[in-house]
Amino acid sequence: MKVLLATSKPFAKVAVDGIRQIMEEAGFELALLEKYTEKSALLEAVRDADAIIIRSDVIDNEVFDAAGKLKIVVRAGAGYDNVDLVSATAHGVCVMNTPGQNANAVAELVFGLLVYAVRNLYNGTSGTELMGKKIGIHAFGNVGRNVARIAKGFGMDVYAYDAYCPKDVIEAAGVHAVDNVEDMYRTCNVISLHLPATDETKGSIGRRLVSLMPKNAVLVNSARKEIINEDELISLMQERDDLKFVTDIMPAASTKFEELFAGRYFSTPKKMGAQTSEANVNAGLAAARQIVGFIKEGCTRFMVNK
Ligand code: 3PG
Repeated sequence: MKVLLATSKPFAKVAVDGIRQIMEEAGFELALLEKYTEKSALLEAVRDADAIIIRSDVIDNEVFDAAGKLKIVVRAGAGYDNVDLVSATAHGVCVMNTPGQNANAVAELVFGLLVYAVRNLYNGTSGTELMGKKIGIHAFGNVGRNVARIAKGFGMDVYAYDAYCPKDVIEAAGVHAVDNVEDMYRTCNVISLHLPATDETKGSIGRRLVSLMPKNAVLVNSARKEIINEDELISLMQERDDLKFVTDIMPAASTKFEELFAGRYFSTPKKMGAQTSEANVNAGLAAARQIVGFIKEGCTRFMVNK
């Protein structure tokens, strides 16, 4: 049984070592394809793979066509918008994610970005504090819950909206649940985005919502760039020089954001929310165990193309 770890953005060594150990104990062989830049390298590597562990690596129909022995793909992380689920199902391949395993890492980075934003990108001028400010968490999944926990430590007033999470669940976490998303944007000084990229959410964060935010508001994105309507956000930020936007996912129009909004826009050069040894170990080892469980016992927990 051959398991391919295909990560264009590699895991920390400690995670790779842990994955290898799990595979060896199961009697499986581990192949590594790290830091690859060409799709052809992935197409070649998947040829004899029975299972693949990936991160944001794109697994499309061409990859499924090339991977004749493939049985399972595990996205070591939360978002699986990089995998063509329709093609996976058509090829009889099980796709899983490892929900929650890197959530704390992403949530901690949200606060790294927020402190950087409210301290004026550390330019030496007087900034503001997070304590006493209202933060709105848009989508209350694993990352959103961790953001809420950390926000309380900062002394923030925490709000959340999630179209699919009942209000009582949000309130049980000690967070104000709002009736509608507009109210949250109207109320909160900071909005932190945690929506998956789906047909429903793509382009949904734009003028309609962000324009409701109070003066000196900060928008922070650690989800997916596709959820933001970049043209609308650019035109709104041109009209409102009080708005700040910080992101762990470089927008398509990043150069334009940089040119127009120096001092109130920042993007990490490469998505690094989940880029900690702890998150790599959590997500990588979970992925490895899920593959062993699937191959040896037929366990389909966390399968996303059921
Ligand atoms: C996720 O969906 O789990 C995060 O966006 C992390 O993605 P990454 O594995 O590419 O860092």
